Amino acid sequence: MAAPIPKAELHLHIEGTLEPELAFALAEGNGLTLPFASQDDLRAAYSFQDLQSFLDLYYALMTVLRTEDDFADLADAYLTRAREQGVRHAEIFFDPQAHTARGVPVGTVIRGLARALDAAPEKHGITTRLIMCFLRDHSAGSALRTFEEARPHLERITAIGLDSAEVGNPPAKFREVFELAREAGLKCVAHAGEEGPPANVWEALDVLGVDRVDHGVRSMEDPKLVARLAADQVPLTVCPLSNLRLRVVDRLADHPLPAMLDAGLMVTVNSDDPSYFGGYAEDNFTAVREALGLDEETLRALARNSFQASFLDETTRETYL
Ligand code: ADE
Ligand code: ZN
Repeated sequence: MAAPIPKAELHLHIEGTLEPELAFALAEGNGLTLPFASQDDLRAAYSFQDLQSFLDLYYALMTVLRTEDDFADLADAYLTRAREQGVRHAEIFFDPQAHTARGVPVGTVIRGLARALDAAPEKHGITTRLIMCFLRDHSAGSALRTFEEARPHLERITAIGLDSAEVGNPPAKFREVFELAREAGLKCVAHAGEEGPPANVWEALDVLGVDRVDHGVRSMEDPKLVARLAADQVPLTVCPLSNLRLRVVDRLADHPLPAMLDAGLMVTVNSDDPSYFGGYAEDNFTAVREALGLDEETLRALARNSFQASFLDETTRETYL
């Protein structure tokens, strides 16, 4: 690999970085048996029809994560790979409800992740932020309870997000928890316009007041929405290999990224769940360069956008640009 472009990763689910090798090691350490005979068997299951078919495997596999050390090991393994891929700053999602629902306290998750993240500037040359996501296919009450459970740890959290099954779970369902988060001084992001319609992006903006939209590719179906996103320069964290593997697009060559750039949108390129989708940050840059013919200048602009759209303070952000 040629020297990768320095970049920020703004759309990365830490549970989606769980590689088969670590999954088997953690299962063994925790006395669990995975329903796969080998790592190759598991990899063979990475063929998805849509978002839900991926989520089923994603939630099943992450049950190997039990202890604070497990979460620290997971994050440290990601940071090692991220640095090799040119990542200098990572804003990392985690799904607390996917762990608390099976008896792992939110403090165990946050302390484990934070241990690896705290060591990252010195160990990996990467700064980080944590984004706590709520599962939109769970109830609004569950999101509120989870937020209150996490309250003692909020100094570790920069933003809240919204993820999981988009269709049938519109953003407005979570208005209250987003209000609480904003009152607590947190930033807000939400997955919208991945599998769901442009209406979800409007709601994320106007009801939840998000600072960034995760994915947002289906915004291109609504010219008024495109105009709004362009006028406000709302960052969109686009994940090309994810869109391909989850069949949001049939071929990478059909991806709307070039049209989004032409429309003047504030686009960034990210990896989403790299263990499952066949590529980390630089792999996504390489894939769009090859499939969409993006030139070096455009790739550098995408990398610059990633720092500009980050939640770093102005002074720190300048040091990356
Ligand atoms: N959780 C992990 N990856 C996701 C994605 N691509 N969309 C929604 N929820 C997710
Ligand atoms: Zn995502």
